Amino acid sequence: MSRGTLIDLIYLVSATTFLVALKGLGSPKHARAGNMIAASGMLLAVVATFFRYVGGRTVNNVNVGSHPLHHVLLILLGIFIGAIVAVPVARFVKMTAMPQLVAIFNGVGGGAACLVSITEFIHIKSTHPATYVTLEVLLGVLIGTVSFAGSAIAFAKLQELMTGRPVTYPGQQVINGIIGAVALVLIVTILVNGSTVLLWVLLALAFVLGIAFVLPIGGADVPVLISLLNAFTGLAVAASGFTLGSNLLIIAGTLVGASGILLTRMMSAAMGRSLSNVLFSAFGSNITASGATEREDGRSVRSGSAEDIAVLLSYASRVVIIPGYGLAVAQGQHVLRELAEMIEAKGIEVFYAIHPVAGRMPGHMNVLLAEANVPYEQLIEMDEANSELQTADVALVVGANDTVNPAAMDDKSSPIYGMPIIRADLAENVIFLKRSMRPGFAGIENELLYNPKTLLVFGDAKDTLTKVVAGVKAMA
Ligand code: TAP
Repeated sequence: MSRGTLIDLIYLVSATTFLVALKGLGSPKHARAGNMIAASGMLLAVVATFFRYVGGRTVNNVNVGSHPLHHVLLILLGIFIGAIVAVPVARFVKMTAMPQLVAIFNGVGGGAACLVSITEFIHIKSTHPATYVTLEVLLGVLIGTVSFAGSAIAFAKLQELMTGRPVTYPGQQVINGIIGAVALVLIVTILVNGSTVLLWVLLALAFVLGIAFVLPIGGADVPVLISLLNAFTGLAVAASGFTLGSNLLIIAGTLVGASGILLTRMMSAAMGRSLSNVLFSAFGSNITASGATEREDGRSVRSGSAEDIAVLLSYASRVVIIPGYGLAVAQGQHVLRELAEMIEAKGIEVFYAIHPVAGRMPGHMNVLLAEANVPYEQLIEMDEANSELQTADVALVVGANDTVNPAAMDDKSSPIYGMPIIRADLAENVIFLKRSMRPGFAGIENELLYNPKTLLVFGDAKDTLTKVVAGVKAMA
């Protein structure tokens, strides 16, 4: 078997591992294995690529191998520096900072695809000036740069290096539309005249477009955007695959592109919003919640203590825990699991109700609870949770807000109207653990906080849960 055939076979194996990995990533139980399978496939592909290019045969000082590899030391140095930076960052990143890590990884992927395309452009122009540049090279530049610049802004928003609120100005979407149209006209022009100067103009314009596209998107919508940019990066990588004649890059890029688009659609649907609403409505710029414990109509919230929760939980027979973004912020997952185990030991049934967009990224709550070794069987999805809640004594809402807000069902004017929610309101008692009366991501009032059956315990969720554990212990 020739070396080329062997390498193609290895690529086929790698591509297959990516498919198997995607299947594994579909469930929390197999996600870790899926990740490992994908990483192994990628390692295999990188090593095979090295051997594909290394040692192009040299005859009379002329390299006649079809793919000679230059600058091996530089490449190894790049891999080394990349590993030194990425491994500790990925290992020690906080769970709440995961979305911005994904944004950065995604951005550099787009940037790399763009660099490959620019290199190919310059190579074509310097070796065969009369040859036309192909469309995929220019698409690689446009999409890769939009993805790179957009991801950088997404990172800055999530890392709070700039405001997380939508940044808007008059005529914003029209201006963005014009920039996008000019970029497309430039691509057509370069295809016709092959101008290198226009390539740099296209690069600059794509950079501006990436930034301008992301500015009006609010902080908590950024995960949806990252998923979309991820899909863009996949397409840019697939374009590089055509440029470099690499089937593996075409397959991997298309898989990322397709799964990114599916994920983007699923996230928008789970929020009850269209993708265009997420991208263009500057959602989250209006905070309408008053943040008051007492309302104008005289109704006020009922606040209690950790001891009150301990009593309520100890005398319940069915408890549904509803985790949200605040649990991740508080890093209270371990103590929450401890509490759940303690009350289970008293014969109380406990479930964790998982809303598909609870937290700030897909699967956020699943990952958080898996990290604390909560058994998968105790995690139930929204529909099942809602039927359990009808007979639950206590709904314990830990750092969730929008995902249990009844306004999504009955207030047509609400920005979250139509979003499916977890029906904490059906339980006999509702307990909210939060620090203040501040609203959730959507910036709107939650009627459930003022419901007479609701008890609010103010404070950091981890601190409160620790006190509840002590309270339950004291009652044993
Ligand atoms: P949110 O509605 O954002 O509410 C989080 C709550 O946690 C807040 O009320 C906050 O109140 C509380 N909190 C924050 N830090 C806390 C701490 N240390 N201890 C205790 N409580 C704390 O969260 P959710 O219910 O998970 O909903 C998610 C929102 O994000 C939805 O609107 C969803 O559409 C949006 N979103 C999600 C995704 C994905 S994929 N998950 C993507 C885009 C958008 P205090 O400040 O008063 O403590």
